[in-house]
Amino acid sequence: MASRAPARVWAYVLIAVIVTAIVVGGAMYFLLRPAPPAPPPPKKELIIYHWWTAGGEKEAIDAVFAIFKERVPEVVISENPIAGGAGAVMKPVIWQLLAAGTPPDTFQVHAGGELKEYVDAGYLEPVDDIWEELGLEEVIPDTLKAICKFGDHYYAVPINVHRSNILWYNPTIFKELGIIEKFGDPREWDLKTFIEVARYIKAKRPDISPVAVATRNKWPLTHLFEVLLLLHGGPEVHVKFWAGMFNYKDPADPVWKAVREVLVAIGTLAKEGLFNPDHPELTWDEAAAKVMKGECAMYIMGDWVAGYYMAVEAKYGEEWSGAPFPKKVFILLSDCFNLPKGAPHPDIAAEWLRVVGSAEAQEKFNVIKGSITARIDVKPEYPDPYRPETAEDFVKSSLVPSPVHGGLSKEAFVTEMHDILTYMVTAIERGVEVESAVDSAIAQIMGAIERTGLPEFWTGYTIEYFITKR
Ligand code: GAL
Repeated sequence: MASRAPARVWAYVLIAVIVTAIVVGGAMYFLLRPAPPAPPPPKKELIIYHWWTAGGEKEAIDAVFAIFKERVPEVVISENPIAGGAGAVMKPVIWQLLAAGTPPDTFQVHAGGELKEYVDAGYLEPVDDIWEELGLEEVIPDTLKAICKFGDHYYAVPINVHRSNILWYNPTIFKELGIIEKFGDPREWDLKTFIEVARYIKAKRPDISPVAVATRNKWPLTHLFEVLLLLHGGPEVHVKFWAGMFNYKDPADPVWKAVREVLVAIGTLAKEGLFNPDHPELTWDEAAAKVMKGECAMYIMGDWVAGYYMAVEAKYGEEWSGAPFPKKVFILLSDCFNLPKGAPHPDIAAEWLRVVGSAEAQEKFNVIKGSITARIDVKPEYPDPYRPETAEDFVKSSLVPSPVHGGLSKEAFVTEMHDILTYMVTAIERGVEVESAVDSAIAQIMGAIERTGLPEFWTGYTIEYFITKR
């Protein structure tokens, strides 16, 4: 007799069937389910920081972006333009990004002391391979090579050479008042003549401001001081002061004499109402616009002003003209790009640097920018009469680096100078006597030299290193 299976066995069979169904069903589901979408490929991106937002400079960098996009169309440019001019607003942002370990792929930097500070802090990779690949050693002049190289390595690729010491003026006003007939060529003026001209303009045309300045971002006032100190003291005083290479604790040091006289000159311009009264509201390009419109007569500023005038289609010889000031010395600065350590896309950054150093980019950029090419083998047809003169001066005049634009000083010291000078001018405009405002500015500058460790910054360098005598 067949015995009936106990209920327990049926229960086991049932459980086995259910488990098998679940396992097989699950396996089928995994085998037959639609494949998940593939993860997107890593973004090809160039994260770049620069401060070119004003007329002329924006168009110039856009021209370089266009070349880059042609070469690597698949790369997205993450542009981070930070307005303010001269990097005054951008640089603190960069230092924060670097300190936080989140560097961009590349950022705008001036050759010289500014570059050295990033190198000393260990934030940059050498870019010797790019220099070699592009043969830059053969085409970049020695003076510029020297301020791109620290230790045995190049740390930046330069795109241009700007001149900081230019006197921009409104030619219509100059003609009307016979300024050049009466005072001679501005290329040969000294500090005393400059102040006399300003006074003369005020006497003849009280409706306009003789000297334009812009203090919203402060640095244009320090720029004025930089140029007047060079004009008055010459290249050695310029280097000694800005590099802290003098006996700054001794008020009788001859460098202080020149500094004092220049501060008194600036104080006089403020006291006698020779500056435009709206300067606290203006940026560098807005002050340039006032000269073009005939609201101010003269403006001491770098030759990015030429780029601005061309971008707004101002008429050369009628609305703007510029004279090297003084002619015999060229205060140079150079905009460069670099490769930070830990950059998220180093290969793309290297491609960017190849573009920056290329003959094509140097030509397109500089024609628009108001500067001349860093590569001496690239000789563009400049559309204005100003550039051929300055290109010639670059190989014939004595050269010194610009402190306000990163070439010669220490960032912390230059920043203190912005505050000290702005405070001095504002105090004088509010009624403080020139002499006492200058005394207090000098005391503050002495403190700033000490506080910022300026004299130690260039340890191992000599005054001669910074001057190309011709
Ligand atoms: C300078 C820079 C120039 C120009 C200027 C005003 O520091 O080197 O290229 O852009 O600032 O922004």
